[in-house]
Amino acid sequence: MTKYRIAIVGFGVVGRGIGSILHDKREFLKSRYDFDFDVVGISDLIWGTVYDPGGIDLGKALDLVSKKEKLDPLGKVLPDSLAMIRETDYDILLEITPTNMETGDPGYSHIKEALKRGKHVATTNKGPIALYYRELSELAVQNNAELRFEGTVLSGTPVINMALKDLAGCEFSEIRGILNGTTNFILTEMEKGKSYEEALKEAQRLGYAEAKPDADVEGWDAMAKIIIMANVVMGGDISRDDVPRTGITGLTIEDVENARKAGKKWKLVGRAWREGGKVKAEVAPMEVDPDDFLYHVQGVLNAVVFSTDIIGDVTVVGRGAGSKEAGYALLTDMLDIHRKLKGR
Ligand code: HSE
Repeated sequence: MTKYRIAIVGFGVVGRGIGSILHDKREFLKSRYDFDFDVVGISDLIWGTVYDPGGIDLGKALDLVSKKEKLDPLGKVLPDSLAMIRETDYDILLEITPTNMETGDPGYSHIKEALKRGKHVATTNKGPIALYYRELSELAVQNNAELRFEGTVLSGTPVINMALKDLAGCEFSEIRGILNGTTNFILTEMEKGKSYEEALKEAQRLGYAEAKPDADVEGWDAMAKIIIMANVVMGGDISRDDVPRTGITGLTIEDVENARKAGKKWKLVGRAWREGGKVKAEVAPMEVDPDDFLYHVQGVLNAVVFSTDIIGDVTVVGRGAGSKEAGYALLTDMLDIHRKLKGR
């Protein structure tokens, strides 16, 4: 049995998602995977930073936050996330702070600091991976640490680890999909007659939307995801400024209605493809018809179609956002790290 010391940075919707999964599944993880753990640190801008090498009671942490109370009674109080990452003892950092597509911070600095110390990292934070994948993966190799980020694309629905492992040996000519749960939910609700504003509020209430929903509706979130797929899965080298990006804010209820009358639907589509020896990518709303698989992907569901050279198209469909959905990706990443360390 291996017991991992886990430090969590970011105890928002997704942080609490993995917190409650770990809390509920401890016995199953032990008996099925020989995976045991203590959560030794939790840091959050609102709920504070606490550390207890003997293990923090996750049930109590979830309870305090549900009552909107700080985590201070649960351990030694530290000044901030960087103090926890730099100065405490842990094996795996779960980096779950909000995505920032300008600088990647604070997640970029958190991940760098942990990797420099040889700590393994699993993250759902898209900014650092979309902007600094090469640097961070090299840093991980140099320090003999593992870096995983399944939850950056389609939350817990498997795409990255699946493409890298289960589709190994295939070359991808195109990756195309609905990569954002919030906008697909909004467009689906608009098809049912809801206003854009009502649908966005509902997506926020359900925990789908980013901290600043502009990131969803202006296409930044889908752009981060297609960059990650292009660079990590297709071996591209594209950055933010290489990707033309249009969100859904220009679409009116009339556009949605006109598409419906024509037997079509609007979808926010992210696409990466090969052209002239390079990988290119774009994000834009596109009208799709029922012959296109994406037409049938509704609500918070997302889908990715991998076009491969050996086995044709492989399509993955699943929920693209949500507290436990994204939290689950961190569990798969930790179990993958555990398998690798055990040589299984
Ligand atoms: N806001 C994102 C979405 C969350 O709606 O898809 C998952 O990345």
